[in-house]
This record gives sequence, structure tokens and C-alpha cells, in this order.
Amino acid sequence: MSKELVVVFTGAGISAESGLKTFRDSDGLWEQYRIEDVATPEAFQRDPELVLRFYNERRKQVLNAQPNRAHKAIADLEKKYDVVVVTQNIDDLHERAGSSKVIHVHGEILKARCTGPCNHIIPWKKDINLGDTCENGYQLRPHVVWFGEPVLHLDEAFEWASKADKFMIVGTSLVVYPAAGIVFHVRPSVPIYVVDPADVMLPTLPNKVIHVKKRATEGVPEVIEKYF
Ligand code: APR
Repeated sequence: MSKELVVVFTGAGISAESGLKTFRDSDGLWEQYRIEDVATPEAFQRDPELVLRFYNERRKQVLNAQPNRAHKAIADLEKKYDVVVVTQNIDDLHERAGSSKVIHVHGEILKARCTGPCNHIIPWKKDINLGDTCENGYQLRPHVVWFGEPVLHLDEAFEWASKADKFMIVGTSLVVYPAAGIVFHVRPSVPIYVVDPADVMLPTLPNKVIHVKKRATEGVPEVIEKYF
């Protein structure tokens, strides 16, 4: 008998207690930088060094961060369930906590992508600077999805959601589509567990929704304890 499938959809909030800023909370990351200044292809064209510097800072923060109890509780679920993590986060905290199936729909900051037609994607933990190129001489950029660019692995993510026996949402404001549309792919009979201290923009769904209004490090273990 194969194990039940748990799909977990996570956003910046799950990494907040690891010290990584979220995007839209009061002291959100974007307040220090205007989104259009750093996270768009136009910004990279206009001022590549600003954009590379912004992500060099974020890459260092990720390397200095540790997975927290929420990441670990999700990884431990694999003892009892098949688990697929669909994350909007570009950090590797789920992987470092031990999750074995993580789908990054907005890219990964610890990978670099070349700007040429060769489309290299290479593991990259150092700074990316102007002049860092792929083997064919094309400038490297962070393997991160910028506003206006296509989201990654979305079909695969939606496919997993449609097969989930349990679905948990942790630390996302659900305001950024198409990724947030994943909730529409969960079968109506499948309960949706939400862990977030704030109200989230969950659209009207046929599913039973259980919202634990707590921080991830408390709420995720609590949901797993009670319902999994
Ligand atoms: N535990 C759980 N949730 C938290 C915590 C915490 N400790 N702290 C904050 N949150 C919640 C907030 O209440 C909010 O609902 O995390 C959510 C963070 O929302 P956003 O900052 O909008 O982050 P996210 O939803 O991941 O943004 C989606 O937007 O900017 C783009 O590409 C970027 O992937 C990102 C996408």
C-alpha cells in the first residue's frame, strides 16, 4: 500500500524565523528596494550591477541561515507520507532540513543561469559579478524568476496538488499568481491546512480550510501533531 501524498505549498513566511525577510510584511524586503529596481529583466538590462549586488546580498543571507523547526517538521513527514514541497522561496532551507522532493517555482538563488541561448543552469554559491560567464561567454544571472518572467515547473506543481491527500500552506500571502493558483488544483474533498499568523487571501474554495494563526515554527508542528 503506497503512502498517502502530502503536498506543502510554502512562501517567504516559512523562512522568516530563519532570519530571511519576507516580501510584504511591514519591514518587508521590498521596502529597502523598489521591486522594479531589482527583480525585473528591465532592471537587469538597465543596471545589472545593482541587480547582481542585490542577489549577492540575498545569497549570503541564505548561506548564513539555518532551516527552522517548520522546515524540519515538513521533512520528518516523509517518514509517514510521500511529501512534495512546492515552494515560492529561492532559498535551500527545505533541502537542508531533509526534504527530498522540492519544486522551486520561482527559481533558486544558489544556482546561476546564463543569459545565452544555451540556457546553462549551474550550482553557484559565490557572488555573481559582471564578467562571470558560462562556457560560451554569456553573462551569468541568478536562477531566479523575475516579475514578468515565466514561472518554473508550474504544470508539475499543479499535477502534484491534484493528487494530494492532504494539502498544507505555510507562510505565503497567496497574492502572487500564477503560483498561488495551485490551491484550485486540490481535490474538493481534500482538507487545506493554513499556517500563517495573519489572514491570508485564500480564494473561496469548496475545500475544508483549517487556519492555524501561528508562526510556522509553532503552527506547522501543531498541524502535523493534530491532523497528520
Ligand atoms: N510564520 C508563518 N508565516 C509568516 C511568518 C512566520 N513566522 N512571518 C510572516 N508570515 C507570513 C505573512 O503573514 C505573509 O502571509 O508569510 C507571508 C509572506 O508573504 P509574502 O511576503 O507576500 O511572501 P510570499 O507569499 O512568499 O511572496 C510570493 O512574491 O515577491 C514575490 O517572488 C516573490 O516568491 C515571492 C512571491
